[in-house]
Amino acid sequence: YGTQRINEMGRLEIGGVDSVLLGETYGTPLFIYDVKDIRNRALEFHEAFKKQQVSYQIAYASKAFSCIAMMELANELGLSLDVCSDGELHTALAAGFPAEKIHFHGNNKTPDELEMAVEEKIGCIVVDNFTELTWLMALTESKKTEMDVLIRITPGVEAHTHEYISTGQEDSKFGFDLNSGQADEAIRLLLSHSYLKLQGVHSHIGSQIFKAEGFEEAVKEIYRSIHGWSVKMDYYPNVLNVGGGFGIRYAEGDSPLPLGEYIDRMVETAKAEAAAMNKPVPEIWVEPGRALVGEAGTTLYSIGARKDIPQVRTYVSVDGGMTDNIRPALYQAEYTAVLANRAAEKTEETVSVAGKCCESGDMLIWDLKLPTVHQGDYLAVFSTGAYGYSMANNYNRILRPAVVFVEDGEHECVIERETFTDLTRREKSYSKAGFIAG
Ligand code: LLP
Repeated sequence: YGTQRINEMGRLEIGGVDSVLLGETYGTPLFIYDVKDIRNRALEFHEAFKKQQVSYQIAYASKAFSCIAMMELANELGLSLDVCSDGELHTALAAGFPAEKIHFHGNNKTPDELEMAVEEKIGCIVVDNFTELTWLMALTESKKTEMDVLIRITPGVEAHTHEYISTGQEDSKFGFDLNSGQADEAIRLLLSHSYLKLQGVHSHIGSQIFKAEGFEEAVKEIYRSIHGWSVKMDYYPNVLNVGGGFGIRYAEGDSPLPLGEYIDRMVETAKAEAAAMNKPVPEIWVEPGRALVGEAGTTLYSIGARKDIPQVRTYVSVDGGMTDNIRPALYQAEYTAVLANRAAEKTEETVSVAGKCCESGDMLIWDLKLPTVHQGDYLAVFSTGAYGYSMANNYNRILRPAVVFVEDGEHECVIERETFTDLTRREKSYSKAGFIAG
């Protein structure tokens, strides 16, 4: 999908731009997004659905990486948008993203967030629980405004991924449980409501999934319930949203399916299930985050300190770490990397790449083979486009990196590097702030 290559100078090039030039221009750490890679992936999703001749929506899960430029790109690529907070919704609207193509998720949407969604007339709200449902019924009644909703259910399917990113099992904080009759009850309430329009069902089984079986299982499981709803309440959904979670390649050994294959398999399962009921195939919606932006992102760091422990290990440290990529510390996630300025050289040593935080767990890559590493080299870590910048933080008061988009030999900064001024902008001096009596 991507445009990475080693150029004539033996350097890593992305989108036709020399990564060393990017490092010199914008400084490090730097997130570099290969826009063509994102385009190609969006196109592959579109083509897979078109080939299947079903109505569909591809909603980019903006939690993976959200900023104004990314929302603009998602819109340009004909994607809908999954947001899960008022902040993501605000960013989308600020980018001019069409409200009617925005879907709102979350297990604890606040009354203010629901009101914002209803006022902005977004495309749909994915109702997660009875608390939210009660609020939403009252809100739309008081505003006399209609709102399309999907109902999120937990299909009881294990996605076989890290437990922190697995969401489809019955014991989950997300969605209505299918076995206890709670989903039935929610549907009954929705069908009799004058302002909430139940468009369909949503399930998301987890993330970084390499096999299509989980999605097929989820579709079958949902259809088992649809049979029941059809008999008990004469309800059949217009929309079947199967969520996101399509895996990507982080390191050797990761072998996701081609994107089209996930789509083919889930759509074919839905077609077979619909045919067995003599019903139309619902619109199929998916919500890829990582699969759209993960491999498109590369983080460029500068190498600083080196520590050799004879016979034990060599640590080389970079100028970022868990502040821009918390995934290794949080999920034991694995990554691979090259020296961007000497990408063609053969590997000569094994090093472990440490971040700069005061935290032993701040390690990015263990036992990485590289050419002999020198201070000042550029290290390019691949597949950092999803849940890297979006989970970035200021631990140790480290500044968040800049983000640059590259395409066809051109580059453009889309998020500036944080500054010291940004860091302390919302803070007040203790002595001057004073206490307020109370
Ligand atoms: N839809 C829903 C309802 C979700 O909860 C998620 C992810 C997605 C779609 C997109 O999943 P994706 O296609 O990106 O796998 N921070 C973790 C991932 C958490 C995912 C949360 N929900 C990580 O870095 O792996």
